[in-house]
Amino acid sequence: MTESTESTDGSESSAGFPPGFLWGSATAAYQIEGAVREDGRTPSIWDTFSRTPGKVLGGDTGDVAVDHYHRMRDDVRMMADLGLSAYRFSVSWPRVQPGGSGPASGRGLDFYRALTDELLAAGITPSLTLYHWDLPQELETPRAGGSAAEGGWPQRDTANRFAEYAGLVAEALGDRVDLWTTLNEPWCSAFLGYGSGVHAPGRTDPVAALRAAHHLNLAHGLGVQALRAALPGRARIGVSLNPSAVRPLTRSADDLDAQRRIDALANRIFTGPMLSGAYPSDLMADTAHLTDWSFVREGDAATAGAPLDFLGINYYAPTVVSGSPPGGDADRHDDHGASDHSPWPGAQSVTFHRPPGELTAMDWSVDPTGLYDLLTRYAREAPGLELMVTENGAAYDDKPGPDGAVHDPDRIRYLHGHLAAVRRAMLDGADVRGYFLWSLLDNFEWAYGYSKRFGAVYVDYETLERTPKSSARWYGRVARTGVLPS
Ligand code: NOJ
Repeated sequence: MTESTESTDGSESSAGFPPGFLWGSATAAYQIEGAVREDGRTPSIWDTFSRTPGKVLGGDTGDVAVDHYHRMRDDVRMMADLGLSAYRFSVSWPRVQPGGSGPASGRGLDFYRALTDELLAAGITPSLTLYHWDLPQELETPRAGGSAAEGGWPQRDTANRFAEYAGLVAEALGDRVDLWTTLNEPWCSAFLGYGSGVHAPGRTDPVAALRAAHHLNLAHGLGVQALRAALPGRARIGVSLNPSAVRPLTRSADDLDAQRRIDALANRIFTGPMLSGAYPSDLMADTAHLTDWSFVREGDAATAGAPLDFLGINYYAPTVVSGSPPGGDADRHDDHGASDHSPWPGAQSVTFHRPPGELTAMDWSVDPTGLYDLLTRYAREAPGLELMVTENGAAYDDKPGPDGAVHDPDRIRYLHGHLAAVRRAMLDGADVRGYFLWSLLDNFEWAYGYSKRFGAVYVDYETLERTPKSSARWYGRVARTGVLPS
């Protein structure tokens, strides 16, 4: 049970969060660092993908991004000034282990040593994610021999490579980082990377996507083992998933079956192995016409189920599905980017719908009940496991006003609604230990390039100057007081 906050009249306060709750912001290496050719870093699949014409809006790349690699100290100072108590960042694999195999790069690790030193000195808890999508290119397309179709997450050896990398980072940073996350949103790595192809490496093969999902599960489990072996007892290890809050359009049998199928492909394909050590049988049946799953070896799912200390949930918007195409396709909608290929292997009969109501600049609906549902669901399904909201936030078309200030009331309302949902879930029994706003800074939003701004801090992409938006100040106040204003 969650510690509850006592209000002055002794009742549980619905606005006050418990002391020690982590108030953070989140980023990812490729989205903010830039400096892609510095200090021995080798290319990742996102360098290759973003430089391939037509893959990223406007031809944008992460070459400079928001230059965090050179502005890290100022960025940490800004977080401290805002009053944040935690920071979730990811380590760039090709920066700390160039090419994805062999020894660690001292220069690459130095950056993360300096970052974590700065954070600790500022009283900010570092939360480290090992893999936020920047696979070393050599592991996708080996330099000598092999073909593009042979590498990457569809291949089992990538899981072994990941475990080795996890061990190297743990050895180097285990003395200063207590919160460790293996993978960020493996669903996106597998199904957007190898299914619909809207993310790197841009392959469009449903079986490769399923294989990738499995090897990400395995990588996670082997990674947990490597971390446990290298880290001191106080380390807490988890994973960040983007479970879908999937709802049926109606209660018809077809729509309920569509909900079940997407729940299997989006959620249980990861939580099955990771939380219970087994793949769901309905998932295997639904995809049996594509693969016999013989790439799953005995013991793999149990390896993926290595015990965790926390489950990270990334949430933005719910998903609404129906089982048979509606009359017209006016409300058809796919939240995961335009592609002729589906990111949902074996679920061709499922139609995605845009729920009515308010939308963000991503065209994602604003609906905090999805976050409440996910937190209470995993509190039920994984009793005893701590939960962390490792990403939540919204993109809006923010612009500086004539006075140079950036006012973003829509984001404040979005955050307020979602934080209230988190608190409500806690009062209903979910053991949520922290909340990380996506994102600290405007940044490279993958296939959308720099066109979508998720930051609490505005970045002028000409000058790279940072300006905290009104939401950053608002969130900082919530972080400092632990109380959600009414
Ligand atoms: C999830 C991802 O982890 C992050 O990289 C991305 O920018 C946000 N969602 C927003 O799409």
